[in-house]
Amino acid sequence: MKRTAFDIVENQNLQGKVYLVTGAYSGLGAVTTQALLKAKATVIVAGRNAQLQAEFAKSLKENPEISFDDQQLDASHIIDLGSLESVKNFANYVKTNYDQIDCLINNAGVMYTPPGKTKDGFETQMGINVIGHFLLSKILVEKTKRQVWLSSKGHTRQGAPRIDLKSITKVDEAAYDTQLRYQQSKLGNILLAKQFEVEYPHLVSVSVHPGVVKTNLVRNITFTQKLLFALLNPLMVMNMQTPEQGASTQVMVATLPEGQLINGAYYADCKVAKEAESAKNMEDSQKLFEYCNEVTKAFQS
Ligand SMILES: NC(=O)c1ccc[n+]([C@@H]2O[C@H](COP(=O)([O-])OP(=O)(O)OC[C@H]3O[C@@H](n4cnc5c(N)ncnc54)[C@H](OP(=O)(O)O)[C@@H]3O)[C@@H](O)[C@H]2O)c1
Repeated sequence: MKRTAFDIVENQNLQGKVYLVTGAYSGLGAVTTQALLKAKATVIVAGRNAQLQAEFAKSLKENPEISFDDQQLDASHIIDLGSLESVKNFANYVKTNYDQIDCLINNAGVMYTPPGKTKDGFETQMGINVIGHFLLSKILVEKTKRQVWLSSKGHTRQGAPRIDLKSITKVDEAAYDTQLRYQQSKLGNILLAKQFEVEYPHLVSVSVHPGVVKTNLVRNITFTQKLLFALLNPLMVMNMQTPEQGASTQVMVATLPEGQLINGAYYADCKVAKEAESAKNMEDSQKLFEYCNEVTKAFQS
């Protein structure tokens, strides 16, 4: 039986440590938040919907399995990773109110969205999964000790092509390949995890594939796509994990004692895993970092 996020934090005392989890009120983010609170950490939850965030906070407080002090949970602010203005406001709130972020968990994500752009004109999946998280990570970088970026084995799909910066602002509805754009965004998450580590020697930064996990992420997938995926990947579907199991790797890399993580590595199943060649290309990771830095510059202060 696969270990759960709760198994990972059993016997851990994270009192005094501060974690920031994006996309915290559903799926992997929700379990991650619960496990961290259970281990006595302070958790800043960063979701985009104020009502869902308030309901999540209430459900945590009413959950008899997780007892925690009020000061341990900060659900006071929301973030829309698809709006650089919103990311800036949220990040500045955190920067002003916290001395240190022990670990930033860039967990939020969208998958297979229809053709569209974020408020700032980036293709939706790249804009939310990569560029929004870049800005959050950049504004908080001096206060952050560790970053965990949720990637996916999906970065190897479609032949794992290299990152294509030119397509980030281009959305041609007729030619839009939503699976390719998801692949690109999850590749982008690995590349940024590696480049943040290079740019900021004080940081430990890693990426994670959580496995195939039953969550709300599939909301944009049609019945036919689901059927096709099940036919092509029967074992994967049969072995689908619960969110409690799926969150084990991100909770492990977020809570391992200093010195026990491989900086820049890609983890799956609670151990270092092999990423695609395109995810090892440090020239591309530098270019993506520079691209994100340039397009978010106006929002960084
Ligand atoms: N589930 C899997 O099998 C799997 C596999 C590989 C990788 N992953 C990765 O794991 C991460 C977590 O996904 P999940 O499976 O837990 O899916 P999920 O249940 O759909 O959770 C995703 C979270 O991200 C939030 N989010 C989406 N867009 C946002 C935005 N613009 N601003 C702020 N928050 C936003 C969602 O909020 P709303 O509910 O308001 O939209 C939701 O809380 C993702 O990065 C995903 O790519 C998942």
